Amino acid sequence: MLEDLNALESKALGELQSAESPEAIEAWRIAYIGAKGALKAMMPRMKDVPKEQKGAVGQRLNAVKQALELAFDEKKTAGASGGSGAGPAVDMTEPGIVDTRHLGRRHIITRVRAELVEVFARMGFDAAQGPELEDDEHNFIKLNIPAGHPARDPIDNFYVDNPNETDAPRMLRSQTSTVQIRTMERAIAEGWGPPIKIVSPGRVYRPDTVDATHSFMFHQIEGLFIDRGVTMRDLKTTLLQFAKAYFGPDAEIRLRPSFFPFTEPSAEFDMKIALKPGTEPAWIELGGCGMVDPNVLEACGVDPEEWTGFAFGFGIERIAMGKYAIPDIRMLFENDVRFLERV
Ligand code: DAH
Repeated sequence: MLEDLNALESKALGELQSAESPEAIEAWRIAYIGAKGALKAMMPRMKDVPKEQKGAVGQRLNAVKQALELAFDEKKTAGASGGSGAGPAVDMTEPGIVDTRHLGRRHIITRVRAELVEVFARMGFDAAQGPELEDDEHNFIKLNIPAGHPARDPIDNFYVDNPNETDAPRMLRSQTSTVQIRTMERAIAEGWGPPIKIVSPGRVYRPDTVDATHSFMFHQIEGLFIDRGVTMRDLKTTLLQFAKAYFGPDAEIRLRPSFFPFTEPSAEFDMKIALKPGTEPAWIELGGCGMVDPNVLEACGVDPEEWTGFAFGFGIERIAMGKYAIPDIRMLFENDVRFLERV
């Protein structure tokens, strides 16, 4: 009987090794360790074993049973995890079951804003911030926009206090250029600059009538680089590098002469972008830029004889609309979930 047990064990283990499919493994289980299997069939022979051998044979029978059951369990788990190669094939490329109804994501503007800060960070620009509730001095005066300038008209700005009644009317900032001023003032006061190299993304407010390209609140990203010997060429190189990094190596840019009170010379910055999928790319205006006016440097305590710099300000919605082929700015604020899931 001991010999038969040994033979049974090695035959069973050998067969289990070559069992490939779940069906073959199950057939093996039935044949060897099942209720009517080969092992069970040997049990009745115990009564013919001489008394003095009963203990040893009984132990051996149990050992073989345990060994076969263990081997079976291992084979099954190896097959289920796809580990041993001998078990059932598991398609590792099959997508898992994800219930997308419950997946949230950051808003498209938040994502683009973070991406822009990251691209400029790679070019050495730190991120700076400024308040949305601003005063006259930072939104206008130090940006070379003096009292009486048409840009300060109450019709075109969200004043919180009446500009005619107080020296420092509070307003919702109409541009992120305010952060240029605040950063230069802080650098001088704290003694860490110039050089200054920052970008500042944030909300701006203008009482525009809402249409496909206008909103009373939108986002800009402002850039400022002040150092010794900065020229217009540095500005154009930076803008081209940015465009290629963010929109791809084929990106084209164009600077058109323009006017801003706080830069001289000034330019509009255009990029060639297809606003709708499948359409011809067209030039669209992303924002303004130029060499920081010496009056602005002086107003912030930066010596224009020693330092020069460039600045730029882009509309973040414009960039998002260009990058993701969004035809209407209102789609960015309506928060229709079907749109938000698409971009
Ligand atoms: N602040 C301008 C606007 O809102 C944009 C701008 C133009 C920013 C030229 C700049 C610049 O820094 O140099 O229209």
